[in-house]
This record gives sequence, structure tokens and C-alpha cells, in this order.
Amino acid sequence: EGGTKPPANSWSFAGPFGKYDRGALQRGLKVYKEVCSNCHGLSYIAFRNLAEAGGPGYSVAQAAAFASDYKIKDGPNDAGDMFERPGRPADYFPSPFPNEQAARAANGGAAPPDLSLITKARSYGRGFPWFVFDFFTQYQEQGPDYVAAVLQGFEDKVPEGVTIPEGSYYNKYFPGHAIKMPKPLSDGQVTYDDGSPTTVAQYAKDVTTFLMWTAEPHMEARKRLGLQVFVFLIIFAFLMYFTKKKVWADSH
Ligand code: HEM
Repeated sequence: EGGTKPPANSWSFAGPFGKYDRGALQRGLKVYKEVCSNCHGLSYIAFRNLAEAGGPGYSVAQAAAFASDYKIKDGPNDAGDMFERPGRPADYFPSPFPNEQAARAANGGAAPPDLSLITKARSYGRGFPWFVFDFFTQYQEQGPDYVAAVLQGFEDKVPEGVTIPEGSYYNKYFPGHAIKMPKPLSDGQVTYDDGSPTTVAQYAKDVTTFLMWTAEPHMEARKRLGLQVFVFLIIFAFLMYFTKKKVWADSH
């Protein structure tokens, strides 16, 4: 049984000319670090990725400084011991729990999913035969719309007829409405230094934009190449048309 249909957002990354909003990526990274990373991993993303083109736009030095805030488990060393050291650009974001059992035990039986690909994992498309048209619709935006909606979908007042078991929380957009994630965001929780509003709605959009980037870090290059291909094909079609006319000029 489904949740309520998530409202549509106007994402900067939507459409063939879409680009990530750098400010949103940087703010979203801050929200992930300060809030989500307490429970959710981001295991496909390395700190060095933060300095790559098409991403949050940090320099290599900034990415290295960001990495050094983290403690990374390493080893064994020459004495055979495991140890912790500051993060380096080549390290991946550390996961909050050592394994799935520990993650479940700490969260009432539901393991918080790794967030690296969540915006893709929650794209559902449309059923047969309409998926044929998903290419022309807002297919890319379904996952982000859902994630942003879930983060804003916690309500104290549980509607008539819905029962929420102990240890679960009512969420308007989560399928079945009973989610084991406690409301993660509240107004003013994360400070922003660029003057953006510090509201749940803004946090949700920023962290979702960030999670769209973690799921598709090369989206900007992909769309740029796609446009170049179309421009080439249009020029090529003209060239072929006039070539054909010339080659066949005498053949009537
Ligand atoms: C599930 C995002 C913070 C614990 C989820 C899901 C998303 C998400 C997208 C998947 C929902 C689904 O399956 O459709 C986030 C974001 C956070 C955040 C973006 C930061 C803003 C937290 C925190 C905790 C937490 C701080 C722990 C206190 C969980 C758990 C689940 C979950 C246990 C599994 C819920 C279930 O299957 O019932 N989260 N989360 N999350 N999250 Fe979070």
C-alpha cells in the first residue's frame, strides 16, 4: 500500500539543461554530515569526489580538510593492531554502524539504508505500458521528490484509522505511513553561512539535491554530451540532405 503522492519540486537539475545548484550541494553536504550521517552511510562517495567537476565545487585542499575531520579505521599496522587516523581524500565516507545487525539493533529493527543511491532507488517510473513515456516525463525527479517529501512528511497528528506501532512514526509519504526513522530535521537545527533559510523545507531540498549528486555525480557531463550529440545530429542531417541533393542532381 502506497503513501501519499509526493509534491513536485522545481529542481535545478531537472531537464536537458539541468545543473546542480552548487550552494544547495554544499548546504546539503552539511545537513548530511551533521544529521543524516548519524544513522545513514554514504559508502559510494569518497572525500576526493567533493572536489570533482560537476559536484559541490570544492578545491582539492578543501576536500582534504573536510576529510581530516573524520576518524577512519585502518590497519593492521606493523604491530598487528587496528588504529584510527584522520581521513584522507582517497577515503570513503565512513558508515555509522559496523554491520547491518548493529544498524537494525540501534533503529528498532529497520536498518537505515545507505543514502548514496537512494534518489535512484526510490524512482518507481510507471507500470506497463506507460514506462515507455517515462523518458519524456519527470521520471528523474520522482526519487528526489519522494526523498524531499519523506523528510517533510512527519506529522504529530495521526489520521483517523491509521495505527502506528510502538517504535514507528507517522509519515504522510512513506508507503504504509509507519516509518522507523524518527523525524530527523527541525527548523534552525543546522546553521547556514550563506543566508539561506534554516527551515525543514530548505534542509530537505538541499540534502536531497546533495543526494541526487551522490547518486549521479556525472549528470552534468552526461547532459552536456547529450546536447552536443543532438546538435551534431541536426547539423549532420542538414549536411546529408544537401549532399544527397548534390549527388543525385542529374538523376531525374
Ligand atoms: C530511512 C533519509 C536521518 C534512521 C530513510 C530513507 C530515507 C532517509 C530516504 C528511506 C525511506 C524509504 O525506505 O523509502 C534520511 C535523511 C536524513 C536521515 C536525508 C537526514 C536529513 C536519519 C537519522 C536516523 C535515521 C538521523 C536515525 C536516528 C532511518 C531509519 C530508516 C531510515 C531507521 C529505515 C526506516 C524504515 O524502513 O522503516 N532515511 N534520513 N535517518 N532512516 Fe533516515
